[in-house]
Amino acid sequence: MEKISRTKVVDLLKRDDFGAMVNVKGWVRTRRGSKQVSFIALNDGSTINNVQIVVDVANFDEALLKEITTGACLSVNGVLTESVGSGQKVELQAREIELLGACDNTYPLQKKGHSMEFLREVAHLRPRTNTFGAVFRIRHNMAIAIHKFFHEKGFFYFHTPIITASDCEGAGQMFQVTTMNLYDLKKDENGSIIYDDDFFGKQASLTVSGQLEGELAATALGAIYTFGPTFRAENSNTPRHLAEFWMVEPEVAFADLHELMDLEEEFIKYCVQWALDNCKDDLEFLNKMVDKGLIERLQGVVNTEFVRLPYTEGIRILEEAVANGHKFEFPVYWGCDLASEHERYLVEEHFRRPVIMIDYPKEIKAFYMKQNEDGKTVQGTDVLFPQIGEIIGGSVREESYDKLMARIEELHIPMKDMWWYLDTRKYGTCPHAGFGLGFERLLLFVTGMANIRDVIPFPRTPRNADF
Ligand code: 4AD
Ligand code: MG
Repeated sequence: MEKISRTKVVDLLKRDDFGAMVNVKGWVRTRRGSKQVSFIALNDGSTINNVQIVVDVANFDEALLKEITTGACLSVNGVLTESVGSGQKVELQAREIELLGACDNTYPLQKKGHSMEFLREVAHLRPRTNTFGAVFRIRHNMAIAIHKFFHEKGFFYFHTPIITASDCEGAGQMFQVTTMNLYDLKKDENGSIIYDDDFFGKQASLTVSGQLEGELAATALGAIYTFGPTFRAENSNTPRHLAEFWMVEPEVAFADLHELMDLEEEFIKYCVQWALDNCKDDLEFLNKMVDKGLIERLQGVVNTEFVRLPYTEGIRILEEAVANGHKFEFPVYWGCDLASEHERYLVEEHFRRPVIMIDYPKEIKAFYMKQNEDGKTVQGTDVLFPQIGEIIGGSVREESYDKLMARIEELHIPMKDMWWYLDTRKYGTCPHAGFGLGFERLLLFVTGMANIRDVIPFPRTPRNADF
């Protein structure tokens, strides 16, 4: 076969130099036709769109044609031609075809319309479907948007460790990291494991958040963000929880509550606008096949101001709803941790737009949040979104050493591994604030997918670590 340098399908479909000889490589999506002519829809992942290859059957070896089945990988040299019937402006009249990889009829993606559950069982192949191709191209684009947004604002990308000895959220949901022989653990007289001989000489875990180290960086570089994997051993089998998920965590010196909320709102809108501007074909596909209201909802978020709502006021609205006969599964009272049904009522039914809830009772929030004058609430901010619930959790940080220490002692948080964190409050402490956005929660919103397992290539959830 003549050597011609490869053109990606995404580029090929934009060309109009008809008559040119080109090469494409990709996987067969469908093949149809007659005894005289075959039409192959070829996709190479560069776009949701396929290029149509027209094959004059008489010019090709019968044995080769037999191997052109769904899933097979081909290299095709052909003439770029104006198309009338393919749904695209261009198609390829095949001159030479090379079979790079045959694909027999055990290929699980023969037919269209598989369930999401089935596709999770073949997560190694599902990127070859239209839906997952679209989702993973959007995932890439959202990662680019995140870096662009913060870079343009002068934030520095700061890498925080994945293995850590401190539990940022204090929720005890950490996966332990050890090289000890689990069949032969050394214990002291109280039955506690002795970690002296473990790899790090102490108990270590996978991080639940890069925030604490992010705070160190913000109080030196001014404004930073982290973007990496985080891990939570919470046994939550919901469409919104993963055991391994990616989090974006900006941290800003000198920011107050209002600047924090402005940043949260601007950031999400930037990412959503980026998707609208850069992922048009994929969004249109998802809008048609997965969620009919998707694009309208994305435009809605970009164009509306988020509600800023004190927790106490939110509880009042929910109590009023209950008084008017609305049924919630979980009780509503001042001090309760809002369940997703409560959050969604506020966002989807009461306000009908995103809500930034602030000033939470300190009992339901992490130790590091800035304490308000009232002695009861803290300057935490949760951004609540339609369909998703909490997409961002953030706060102004308690910068006073004494107040922070008092809270740590109240909560009996073991501080021996956190001395370095307290040093920020000892040496030139400063007001600062930050937040964490769950990358997959953002993707749920932007793609319209219903389950968080379907916006990450290889989901990790309780009892599931395949692939
Ligand atoms: O609210 P969280 O727990 O906040 C923190 O970790 C802070 N340290 C962030 C900060 O202030 N720098 O988590 C932040 C976000 C949540 O709002 C949610 O979007 C996402 O992370 N998240 C999860 N996403 C998927 N699966 C899980 N199990 C998640 N837990 C939290
Ligand atoms: Mg939270």
